[in-house]
Amino acid sequence: MSGDPKGASKGARAKHGPNRRDVVAGAAAISALATGGMPVQAQAPAEPPAPTIRAQLVVNGSSRALDLDPRSSLLDVLRERLALTGAKKGCDHGQCGACTVHLDGRRVASCLTLALQADGRNVTTIEGLSPADGSLHPMQQAFIDHDALQCGYCTPGQIMAAVACVQEGHATSPDQIREYMSGNLCRCGAYVGIVAAIEDAAHKIRQG
Ligand code: FES
Ligand code: FES
Repeated sequence: MSGDPKGASKGARAKHGPNRRDVVAGAAAISALATGGMPVQAQAPAEPPAPTIRAQLVVNGSSRALDLDPRSSLLDVLRERLALTGAKKGCDHGQCGACTVHLDGRRVASCLTLALQADGRNVTTIEGLSPADGSLHPMQQAFIDHDALQCGYCTPGQIMAAVACVQEGHATSPDQIREYMSGNLCRCGAYVGIVAAIEDAAHKIRQG
């Protein structure tokens, strides 16, 4: 009987093939060679690309075919895919009105509107509000005339909401304007000028 346990172990391997410990040690040695001795970081599996859906939006009068991630908001598509950065991202939760645009003539918070909801529909942003001749929309002019802004961040949304407010027939008095513009916040507190501008523009728009 041999007194050499290592010799006995080698004999067993020769008889039964490599055991589990041999396999693990071999794999570690190969891995160390491949990485120059550095430990291997576990790689997160790559996410498959999100499926897209083809949609056709009419934005400021131009037809735009887009492959859309169905989760994209209209605001993100306008700003990041179409470079229309007039609509602002304030809260991204439907609470500030900075992202207001018109969808088929009605005001919507574009941060809460899926871009796919605009498929086949007309979207108007502040960039498409003024006439093609380069003159200002009466509401834009009234905001200037009444000093209805300070930093201007909320202003595109205020103007788009104000135009809709007039079209809805909800701009017949300062109280009514305040009520129907209450979804549009102004952190600079330019509310006095905003109400005056809407009153003025509403008067001019009604007169044609
Ligand atoms: Fe949409 Fe504030 S960014 S409501
Ligand atoms: Fe600054 Fe309204 S003008 S937030």
